[in-house]
Amino acid sequence: LNYNVKRDRRFILEILFNGLRRLEYRGYDSAGISIDSSSSSDPNGQLSFSPLVFRQEGNIDSLVKSVYKDVASIKLNLEELFCVHAGIAHTRWATHGEPSPKNSHPQTSGAGNEFLVVHNGVITNYEVLKETLTRHGFNFESDTDTEVIPKLAKYVFDKATEEGDQSVTFSLVVLEVMRHLEGAYALIFKSHHYPNELIACKRGSPLLLGVKELSEDLHSGAPFLDLKFISENRHPKELFLSSDASAIVEHTKKVLVIEDGEVVHLKDGGVSILKFENEKGICGNALSRPSSVQRALSFLEMEVEQINKGKYEHYMQKEIHEQPESLTTTMRGRLKRGGSTKAKTVLLGGLKDHIKSIRRSRRIVFIGCGTSYNAALAARPIIEELSGVPVTMEIASDLVDRQGPIYREDTAVFVSQSGETADTLLALEYALENGALCVGITNTVGSAIARNTHCGIHINAGCEIGVASTKAYTSQIVVMAMLALAIGDDAISSQARREAIIDGLFDLPNKVREVLKLDQEMKELAKLLIAEQSLLVFGRGYNFATALEGALKVKEVSLMHSEGMLAGEMKHGPLALVDENLPIIVIATRDACFSKQQSVIQQLHARKGRLIVVCSKGDAAAVCPGGSSSCRVIEVPQVEDCLQPVVNIIPLQLLAYHLTVLRGYNVDQPRNLAKSVTTQ
Ligand code: G6P
Repeated sequence: LNYNVKRDRRFILEILFNGLRRLEYRGYDSAGISIDSSSSSDPNGQLSFSPLVFRQEGNIDSLVKSVYKDVASIKLNLEELFCVHAGIAHTRWATHGEPSPKNSHPQTSGAGNEFLVVHNGVITNYEVLKETLTRHGFNFESDTDTEVIPKLAKYVFDKATEEGDQSVTFSLVVLEVMRHLEGAYALIFKSHHYPNELIACKRGSPLLLGVKELSEDLHSGAPFLDLKFISENRHPKELFLSSDASAIVEHTKKVLVIEDGEVVHLKDGGVSILKFENEKGICGNALSRPSSVQRALSFLEMEVEQINKGKYEHYMQKEIHEQPESLTTTMRGRLKRGGSTKAKTVLLGGLKDHIKSIRRSRRIVFIGCGTSYNAALAARPIIEELSGVPVTMEIASDLVDRQGPIYREDTAVFVSQSGETADTLLALEYALENGALCVGITNTVGSAIARNTHCGIHINAGCEIGVASTKAYTSQIVVMAMLALAIGDDAISSQARREAIIDGLFDLPNKVREVLKLDQEMKELAKLLIAEQSLLVFGRGYNFATALEGALKVKEVSLMHSEGMLAGEMKHGPLALVDENLPIIVIATRDACFSKQQSVIQQLHARKGRLIVVCSKGDAAAVCPGGSSSCRVIEVPQVEDCLQPVVNIIPLQLLAYHLTVLRGYNVDQPRNLAKSVTTQ
């Protein structure tokens, strides 16, 4: 882009670096970038292009430093970036091969960077491909599955040109590569042979194209921008490809969700998208005939402010504190409370044609991973109570491993913040094959789960960036409580209960605001626990999920061992761990299990357990054996029992946050974890 030369020299680099920073929450062990450099050293005065590649272990800032260090040492001359139109970049969460420059992306076809690839996903047949390519003389440098892709591209390109096909297009090369790949992927290719062009394609992993119209008058032209427009100072389009909307939204809200099998070709500010059907290919095997894709652009609902930290130091902190607002958005337009009690209803637009079928199903199976699984567990009792339909729980990977029974008469509910978790997607594929009615509960409009389920509910919690899920968890529980109300029968006998829950939902943001005032108290508690090795959390009933989720938060971010346990199982093993050193949190807010939790506390106290009790306001004396000095008490506001997990998790989120900061770990990017696990 040369409409502003001064700006353009760093333009592509800076856009790519910024995009990587936005995506850093999805992977942060190494990063890389490639852009074209141009030089006019050609004897005919023609500009020649060759891709520059930088790869670096560590976070994005390490990559940025290393690139600009090369600029400073004149290894990279910014003047050479004069005609740079296109670049690719990647931040990695290692699957195959440790984090290191050689394993970072872009992966390359070898010397000269003839083909370069960035990849999100996993290639499952890479070993076979590697063997074949090695037989054809390719040397592999990395330990990644991805490296087979650029090498395969070079193999396909060389074969086509050897056979005299000088006109083989970049799209055709990529198409042929795709045909040999198994697994899940979103890929972007760059090539020395096709300077200033990019090709992207996908199968299984998410990919978005963002379109920024810099000038409307270019609409009427050929599919690709003519370079002459540029020399006449006319503004071209800017086009962005990303696996995540947060890298695009600051540039444009107009996006196209790329579908499996589509090949996107960017050239000189223009875009064409092809989808391939089976036919003959360049390597003589069954290949595909391209057909052009025309699809309307969608509009991102996301706001740039959502992906900034605002006044907070960390995303996790911001996301914990914005829960009153995120819960309000989750419920907006879905709860009705009129003048008469009869008017209290729940409206879930995405389910309206399927409510009866869900109600009639033989069972409801909740499927998810990590925090999303815990949210479903928290909602299970109220769904069983109001609908009378049996509810079973499945961790997505375990369902697929066991090939557990799923029937046509089942409703399978897929809970996923990102909507892209590979394990959950595989379980969805499996449930669809088995004929179940599939419902999605996700935070990501346009995600694979949103697209591939029969119906669903968006939780509308807003973009969540901290790797440890917080606001999505509470919004998921609220959505599932609304689901319980929507599918529950409207028997007179349950009317009062239903209305109490609806009233409770209306009041929930206020109660969450109140419980957030415990922030300082939880910081003090974190100071006491900072050096501990281990922490147990006991809960039961509605708050078994709180115990699991509280412990998960503590372990994933503060790197302290922590286990959530069903209090009913305490006597069957965990009690052996109890002594005067091990800190134990017990959730004992008021509900049908309260007296059982009182007795659990007594038993732990009798074994000198170091007790921290989460109880309802005013209950300190009731929960602490022999008075409140015998244990540390965290008092939370009481709400309707099925909504109590939303309130109870908040002090534990705050505890995990403060423990992490005090222990000096990275809150938003915990070691070895990724926000959205798009690989199995
Ligand atoms: C990863 C994240 C967890 C998340 C889980 C499920 O493990 O680190 O925070 O709960 O994936 O993600 P999903 O997007 O499907 O809710």
